[in-house]
Amino acid sequence: MRLDSLAFRLIATSAAWLAVVLPIAGYIIFTLYSEDVQASFDQRLEKLVNSIAVDALLSGGSEPVAPLNRYEPLFEETQSGWYWQIKPLDDPSALQLVSASLATASLPSPFENKIGPDRLGQRWMNTKGPVGEPIRVIEIVDTKGHQDNAPRYAVSVAGPITWLETRNRNFRNRLSIALALTGLGLVAATLFQVRFGLLPLQRIEHGLAAIRSGDATRLEGRLPIEIEPLQSELNALIQSNQDIVDRARTQVGNLAHALKTPLAVITNEAREDKGPLGEKVAEQAGLMRDQINLYLERARMVARVDVIGRATDVRPAIEPIVRALERINRDRDIKIAFECPPGAKFQGEKQDLEEMAGNLLDNACKWAAANVRLRIAVESGTEPRLNRRLVMMVADDGPGIPAVERAKLGKRGLRLDETKPGSGLGLSIVTDLAQLYRGQLQLGESDLGGLEARLELPAAS
Ligand SMILES: Nc1ncnc2c1ncn2[C@@H]1O[C@H](COP(=O)(O)OP(=O)(O)OP(=O)(O)O)[C@@H](O)[C@H]1O
Ligand SMILES: [Mg+2]
Repeated sequence: MRLDSLAFRLIATSAAWLAVVLPIAGYIIFTLYSEDVQASFDQRLEKLVNSIAVDALLSGGSEPVAPLNRYEPLFEETQSGWYWQIKPLDDPSALQLVSASLATASLPSPFENKIGPDRLGQRWMNTKGPVGEPIRVIEIVDTKGHQDNAPRYAVSVAGPITWLETRNRNFRNRLSIALALTGLGLVAATLFQVRFGLLPLQRIEHGLAAIRSGDATRLEGRLPIEIEPLQSELNALIQSNQDIVDRARTQVGNLAHALKTPLAVITNEAREDKGPLGEKVAEQAGLMRDQINLYLERARMVARVDVIGRATDVRPAIEPIVRALERINRDRDIKIAFECPPGAKFQGEKQDLEEMAGNLLDNACKWAAANVRLRIAVESGTEPRLNRRLVMMVADDGPGIPAVERAKLGKRGLRLDETKPGSGLGLSIVTDLAQLYRGQLQLGESDLGGLEARLELPAAS
């Protein structure tokens, strides 16, 4: 996936968003949970301390008694983290009662540590137990039978803070796994969404390729509402392009028509006049006619080439020319070898391809001793599909052209060898047409001994 792709942008933003939101959600959920666990832990301690206080202080007799009910089995297990303690506050000689789990140790008293009571009269303290383990202590201070002015006792119960921490840790681990899975699932869903959502763009790409290769003249198909305007704009653009070309063509035709008659009249009139003026005018009128024909022809070619689309199958277009040339040159016994990969297509008009191939082959046959070879290949360009080139190589075993002369060729009317019939226009027409298609013509030496013309043109897919 490329960094500047739409898919990457969408997925990166959603991943970044999740990376912010999921941890925040996790933090909130975890805080709520741990507050809840803390509250239920405190409630349990509260219940235990109240039960023990009732047992110890509200039973008969003047001394507190150890609670009969064990409430929590871990009170009996030494250093379990669960402890209770009843400590006399006013009479140091009085008996201090402790749970079996405390053994000979004792709990620190929040009252003696100057910790104030909450609104229920309970004092809370987090501290260390007999073996240094963190514990939470709750303490209530009361007298035997709620009597005023009687000696006070501090009844306290402690529970292990590790109990809380274990619960929190377990929950945090499970929560992290769940949120991580959620995040992955959401990114995967985005990935799918993006792939699915961008499918119509592929349809546009195929549609445009079809237009370029001449299989279609407009962007067809029902596209999503968001890119429908793009579709109609593209179709309008193609249509207006077509209209402009058509108009130019018509005007060129009109101009040709309009000039023909006056020029013919001038030429005829000038021929009548046998003086130097008549001769000059006739000569110049002839030049004008040639120039008009030349530029009209060019305009016609440009008009043809600039229409988007039009792909020509190479083999069926060229095979008849090869056969015809072989027939024409039958008495000279010229063989034309023709190689063409199946499915090779030229991005342009059939007529133009015929014209170019015809001229090159005609030259090759004219100058060949016995063999002519036409080889066609499709070369891939730097960018797949867009830049593919159709290469046509025409070689013969004739005299060839020396390198110095080759450079001059392609000029209109230039002929090096006057012994063969011809007008000297063939190569310049090929050069002109090749340029219109942004292709090129190169002349070189062939391995058959004569000239090799290499014509490069755009290929269609
Ligand atoms: N295959 C070839 N072998 C040797 N010389 C060639 C070959 N092709 C072209 N030439 C030289 O290049 C000149 C220009 O070729 P071009 O096709 O433009 O004109 P032409 O063939 O003489 O006339 P036309 O093609 O207009 O009938 C030719 O007169 C000839 O001297
Ligand atoms: Mg020629």
